[in-house]
Amino acid sequence: MGSMTQRTLITVACLVLGACGEGAPAQGSDGDGSDSTGAGGPGTTTEPGAPTTTEANDSGVDSPTTGSSHGDSTTDGEPPPAACAMGYPIPGTEQVQGDAEAGYHALLNEGYVSCGIPFALFPIAAPLLGSFGEGEPLPGRTGKNAEVPYNWTVHTSKSSGAEIVSLNCLECHAGHFNGELVIGLGKADADYTEQIGGFLAEIPIPGIPIPGLEEMTRMAQRYQAVGDYTRMLVVGTNPADSLAAVLSTRHDAETLEWLDEPNTVVPDVILPVDTPPWWHTKKKHGLFWNGMSRGDHRATMIYASALCTDSVEEAEDIFSYFNNIRAFIESVEAPKYPFSIDDELAAQGQEIFARDCSCCHGTYADDPALETYPNMLLPLDTIGTDPLLAFEADARPFADWFNSSWYGDIGKLTTGDPFVGYVAPPLDGIWASAPYFHNASVPTIELVLNSKARPMWWRRVDYDSTNYDEEAVGWPWVELPYGQDGAPDDERKHVYDTTITGHWNTGHPFGDHLDDQERRAVLEYLKTL
Ligand code: HEC
Ligand code: HEC
Repeated sequence: MGSMTQRTLITVACLVLGACGEGAPAQGSDGDGSDSTGAGGPGTTTEPGAPTTTEANDSGVDSPTTGSSHGDSTTDGEPPPAACAMGYPIPGTEQVQGDAEAGYHALLNEGYVSCGIPFALFPIAAPLLGSFGEGEPLPGRTGKNAEVPYNWTVHTSKSSGAEIVSLNCLECHAGHFNGELVIGLGKADADYTEQIGGFLAEIPIPGIPIPGLEEMTRMAQRYQAVGDYTRMLVVGTNPADSLAAVLSTRHDAETLEWLDEPNTVVPDVILPVDTPPWWHTKKKHGLFWNGMSRGDHRATMIYASALCTDSVEEAEDIFSYFNNIRAFIESVEAPKYPFSIDDELAAQGQEIFARDCSCCHGTYADDPALETYPNMLLPLDTIGTDPLLAFEADARPFADWFNSSWYGDIGKLTTGDPFVGYVAPPLDGIWASAPYFHNASVPTIELVLNSKARPMWWRRVDYDSTNYDEEAVGWPWVELPYGQDGAPDDERKHVYDTTITGHWNTGHPFGDHLDDQERRAVLEYLKTL
């Protein structure tokens, strides 16, 4: 399958650049060296010279999979997993306050993405936009916005004065669960295997002058420029990180002016990302899976609208209401689990969670003031999940561009401080946000808690959000006997192939030592969060 070669390439890159912690990631660091992901999958082999155990093991204590080793006492006098000691708690920065209600209004009405489709053309354009044009309208929106899908916003272009329709943040940050659209839930069925740029080119343009047409030309030009680098391999993975990096090569850092030629080479690497739910944002000191958005979080939030922001003046205008949008995002609460919960089992799970998970993922309570969240960044060789995203974020020139740009005057992208890794996310409402890990490589939490049972090749049974697996806590899936190479053409984009670079499902062995009953208890407890 070539996975060996791909992994070797990463290892070499890591070693050369010294950016991946200690050599290669500890694939499936289950401590006993056994097969962690099924025959032939990633994790079955170990790179020459790669540590097979975590650093915690190197310090002579039990593997983190045993969940018990040395350390300070916590609940019930049980020691926390040794792996927690490898973490770095990211320090917080006080955030600028705003008005959440005004933020919600701005999120759904302001033209922070300034290019788009003329409103006059939208009725003929929408059906040609694939899944991008299919969303239902959002209840509560008024005027023309009540007529367009929830992920589009009608606004008056500041440059042309024409009414145009632009994609908004909900394109990725609203998703369906149990048949309902949930604002703030990442869109787990987003299809970025096809690009909107291709769809835009198909829109027939009538031979009459249409106000705002230049905004559509600009939008098409932008997607054409970013296109190749943002095509995902599998439905459910998101190109936002690639998009952000590529857009930086097309904007002057100081003036934000659009550059017809890229100012640097963009690595031709597919970076599949899972969109985290917005109800985690309020707890996080460093936003993004690798915790790199530090300081004032508005900097990266506003950069999410950078597709067509071509001047400092425009950026400042958008920035003027992002304190409110940030306040809105902070106000988003996790939904309540809509199905039944076995309270007794959940109580058992809570104890196991306190013992084996809390030191990384925090503690939870009905009263938010009683909750704790350590903001723990874990080095790649301790967490063992796919290293590509964190590694690329650190190795690419994007962070330097960002920090030297207008956006960098607001907040910073900090990678590799003190090491490259991933943050253990808050687990509020985690049952709603399958699939799991930063690359969406694991379909259920049951499998998050059992690295040895993860399928090498899988696909979702369907994308019906009412078809939910309450027992495994996640989306129903089937194992496949082939990966992307062997898949029939019409199925390929649904096949999650964990042998492909960036798509590994390795690591996070912290539930492996649990027996089935204990695992079920932890799963039940997570439904209460
Ligand atoms: C094309 C899809 C897409 C769009 C559009 C988008 N985002 Fe995101 N967003 C993502 C993905 C994917 C991530 C996770 C990136 C990572 O962690 O590396 C993310 C991360 C975030 C986070 C941090 C979440 C966390 O837990 O760390 C915030 C906050 C956020 N986005 C806000 C916004 C806002 C505000 C907008 C609109 C201005 C927006 N996003 C537009 C895909 C998108
Ligand atoms: C040593 C720190 C550590 C321990 C201990 C730990 N985790 Fe994690 N966990 C992480 C990190 C880091 C991630 C993110 C990994 C990634 O996405 O690459 C994560 C991810 C997860 C996720 C997926 C989150 C998402 O949004 O995709 C779940 C669920 C989870 N952990 C549950 C648990 C449970 C339950 C336990 C205890 C049995 C546990 N973890 C123990 C560090 C830890």
